[in-house]
Amino acid sequence: MARDLTQLEILTELEQFAGAALDRHLSMVKEWHPHDYVPWDAGHNFAMLGGIDWDPSQSRLSDVAKAALITNLLTEDNLPSYHREISANFSRDGAWGSWVGRWTAEEARHSIVLRDYLVVTRAVDPVALENDRMAHMSHGFAAPMERTDTSGDGGFLFSVAYVSFQELATRISHRNTAAVCDDPVADRMLQRIAADENLHMIFYRGMCAAALDLVPDQAIEAIDLIVRNFRMPGTGMPNFRRNGVLMAKHGIYDLRQHSEEVLQPVIRQWNVFERDDFGPRGEQARERLAAFLDDLEHVRIPRFEEQRDRALAREARRGVGTVAG
Ligand SMILES: [Fe+2]
Ligand SMILES: [Fe+2]
Repeated sequence: MARDLTQLEILTELEQFAGAALDRHLSMVKEWHPHDYVPWDAGHNFAMLGGIDWDPSQSRLSDVAKAALITNLLTEDNLPSYHREISANFSRDGAWGSWVGRWTAEEARHSIVLRDYLVVTRAVDPVALENDRMAHMSHGFAAPMERTDTSGDGGFLFSVAYVSFQELATRISHRNTAAVCDDPVADRMLQRIAADENLHMIFYRGMCAAALDLVPDQAIEAIDLIVRNFRMPGTGMPNFRRNGVLMAKHGIYDLRQHSEEVLQPVIRQWNVFERDDFGPRGEQARERLAAFLDDLEHVRIPRFEEQRDRALAREARRGVGTVAG
């Protein structure tokens, strides 16, 4: 049986694909500038410069919209951690290095524009937001691949599988956040960010597809582990549970969306269940993955939806208006 390729061998073999995908990405990205998306004339000074400080009555957003925007922003804020993961697991040379630099620079726009919007419109408490940012960034981001990869080699495959799903997950989250903001300015900004996340997903999904062709067994083992251990990148941030539950309950990011709009389309694109190039190890990983997806669809999602519907009905009876609030 052929031996596994090392991480360096995989990166070297795939560099031509990375170069072509980077060129394609650069031909598709639309240049945009965060300042264009912020309603500056809605802004006022805070107390230190003679104005008034934030007060909850100044916010026009619902609790759900606030929770989603804060979660999305703190997630974007943690870019230094993601950059560290990606640059450690990819390479700083050639097309890989160029991609890591370009991707990092594009990602940085997302937190810039989200923060400017939230502070200028006084949508959320800027002091709490800053305290949460400090806590979240100080803690950093623990990638699922760090917890699952014990070999010390193969971090690239775990990383590239994770970001293929994660970029699509953040796209869905930004897009659905736009729908609950009820503000055309927020809608335009979030659609703009979501379009970036989609192009990022396309790059990573393409790299993972090339890895599946090159090292099918190694790649499907990484994909299977990542899917079964998937955590949103914001896991661990202040109030993540409370805000995550609120977002799931109100359709911004829930288990069915995770399965049907994130996992399934990417797995389908890779032809995971139609391929015939797996060896015994790959077959085993594919069977584990199939069993996991089946359990998600037939057990976990219906259970979540039942609980959610009961909770929403309870809130409606109590007259809790979380969406309109
Ligand atoms: Fe982003
Ligand atoms: Fe992204």
